[in-house]
Amino acid sequence: MKSGDNKFAYVDHMLTEHRRLDQLVRRTISALPSWEELDSQDWLPRTTNGLVAIRTELAHHFRDEEQGGCLEEAVARCPQLSAQVQKIEGEHEEILTRLNELIDRCQCGRKPTPQQSQAIEQELRQIVRDLRVHEALENRIMQEGFSVCLENEDMSEPLVPEATARAMRSASV
Ligand SMILES: [Fe+2]
Ligand SMILES: [Fe+2]
Repeated sequence: MKSGDNKFAYVDHMLTEHRRLDQLVRRTISALPSWEELDSQDWLPRTTNGLVAIRTELAHHFRDEEQGGCLEEAVARCPQLSAQVQKIEGEHEEILTRLNELIDRCQCGRKPTPQQSQAIEQELRQIVRDLRVHEALENRIMQEGFSVCLENEDMSEPLVPEATARAMRSASV
């Protein structure tokens, strides 16, 4: 292995994990109900299973990040990133707590009203938006720490274009 190869292994590992999580999130988002389906409960088990899978994978991913490795190595190479890494790792528990609360709402055993379904959908999208900002910031930390250029790795763009989301919201009123 050439002396510079090691840093690419760290960066590759982080990016691969983020892409894998992103695919899982996209599958779960695609199982959300359309507005016509809000009245039925068919979407709930699919969404709940997706959320549980995301929680399992995310808990593992966060533990991996906190127990050293990619982010720690970025700080070792660029100590001024230390505060950013501390802050980003501090977000892990909050994201998992919000995900757990959402799973509890899905598993409460009562059929959600259309308004409750809509609230679940909106909270899930908000968690996903925040998660994508979180992961994008980690990608930037990796970029700075390892002095590499990561093109097309900004995952913070919305999953649903805002215009579409507005149209969906107005259709629901
Ligand atoms: Fe993280
Ligand atoms: Fe991450």
